[in-house]
Amino acid sequence: MISFDAAKSKLAECGQEHALRFWDGLGEAERDALLGQIETIDAESIKLMQSMLGTEPATAGEATIEPSPVVELAAIAEREATENLTELGCAALSGGTVGVVLVAGGQGSRLGFDGPKGAYSVGPISGASLFEIHARKVLALEQKFGAEIPFYIMTSQVNDAPTRAFFAENDNFDLAADRVLFFTQGMWPALDGDGKLMLDSPSHIFMSPDGHGGTLTALQQRGMFDDMDRRGIKTIFFFQVDNPLVEIADPAFLGLHVKEGADISIKVCSKRDPEEGLGIVARKGDRNIIVEYSELTPEQMHETLPDGNLKLRFGSVAIHVFSVPFLKQEAAAQLPLHVAHKKVPCLDASGTLVSPDSPNAYKFEKFIFDVVPDAKVAINVEFERANEFSPVKNAVGNDSPATCQRDMMLKAAGWLEACGVEVARDSEGGALHKIEIDPCFALGAADLAGKLGEGFAFDADLLLDASEDGC
Ligand code: UD1
Repeated sequence: MISFDAAKSKLAECGQEHALRFWDGLGEAERDALLGQIETIDAESIKLMQSMLGTEPATAGEATIEPSPVVELAAIAEREATENLTELGCAALSGGTVGVVLVAGGQGSRLGFDGPKGAYSVGPISGASLFEIHARKVLALEQKFGAEIPFYIMTSQVNDAPTRAFFAENDNFDLAADRVLFFTQGMWPALDGDGKLMLDSPSHIFMSPDGHGGTLTALQQRGMFDDMDRRGIKTIFFFQVDNPLVEIADPAFLGLHVKEGADISIKVCSKRDPEEGLGIVARKGDRNIIVEYSELTPEQMHETLPDGNLKLRFGSVAIHVFSVPFLKQEAAAQLPLHVAHKKVPCLDASGTLVSPDSPNAYKFEKFIFDVVPDAKVAINVEFERANEFSPVKNAVGNDSPATCQRDMMLKAAGWLEACGVEVARDSEGGALHKIEIDPCFALGAADLAGKLGEGFAFDADLLLDASEDGC
């Protein structure tokens, strides 16, 4: 543990000695906790953060950005016919060379759910949590491909213990314990308008997760790359916790990635409207980039082409495939920082905890997609939005539990109809009754057709019973 003197001089190096101002009144455990926090702080990073204050948030507006090429749906279908992309992806899965990384270290504050967001219940009938739905998909893939698929789950100090407890209480949703691997990301302090660290108690510096760009260093520092090497994992399927429609390790997507020898492959879809909160894929000079929605100028967000489409039309939904060597390479890269102005309760000069009415703190994050310009081969791959993307982000309105459950049921309805089962629809085209399909029963319409072909008697009353029971 760092000594008091070393902590003091580290803080002095970046003008932060005030973080020790309550030292004399602290007990031993509190002193240790505070020193432990100071040990994780890097003076150079603080100086970099200070240099970003007072500047306008970075916008891509200063640079000319152009749309990035996208492998669109029709092209994928054509290539599938001649290049057997799905078969390639299936071979990678059965060969046991694919791992899955889920980033779940965020705070989910927009949803207003008190707990790890992955514990949020979203299954329309089962009430299954987001974590359960994701874990059951990984399990279903293991069963289907007869292979081991390690499931790496990134947490942060704010939700690590409850996340682990949630998995333990649920017996890892039947996944083998040695293939469920939690790793915690780093935490970063926030700065006030004067570039000072903020205390939220006399012995505690306010810190928050360092953004999902922290995945790279966390994978390295927590031994996950070593684990991947031990298991022979060459390719990582990466996704976010909030989207239960995600087609984890979708073989056609994996196959395209392998075929192209890509460092990173990015699933993209047309934005729902110009202001939708998706990072957009673009080109700056000869480099591919992803620009976060909050960093686009209004002109870039709204500019249209003569055909009426948005110029920067394709958004990334944070579903990626990475080659492991590229991830390792990028763990050593200096990703840029992104700053956000937020409200953070903190101690005032007299040591009283004050909740501000307006933003008082600058929080900093790294984004994983800032690795894109470093990729020698990066491909943007279009997908059918209705099949794969309906996140739970907000409590109500767009991207809420209600829209997500509607879309989960629409997806299941589509599979059933593809198998010749009649599904009652409501006046808006939604499923009239609740429907849910366990990933371990079927991962797609073809699996479902197989089950029906095997003599599984589908009982249409099941749908009615489920919804009438209100379960
Ligand atoms: C995110 C993407 C956006 C993308 C959209 C698709 C960012 C900055 N933006 O927006 O480009 O189009 O999703 O739905 O990510 N997380 C961590 N640690 C952190 C911060 C976040 O693990 O420190 C995880 C969260 O748990 C979540 C994911 O990253 O799984 C996304 O975070 P969130 O803040 O919800 O991003 P969005 O603004 O929704």
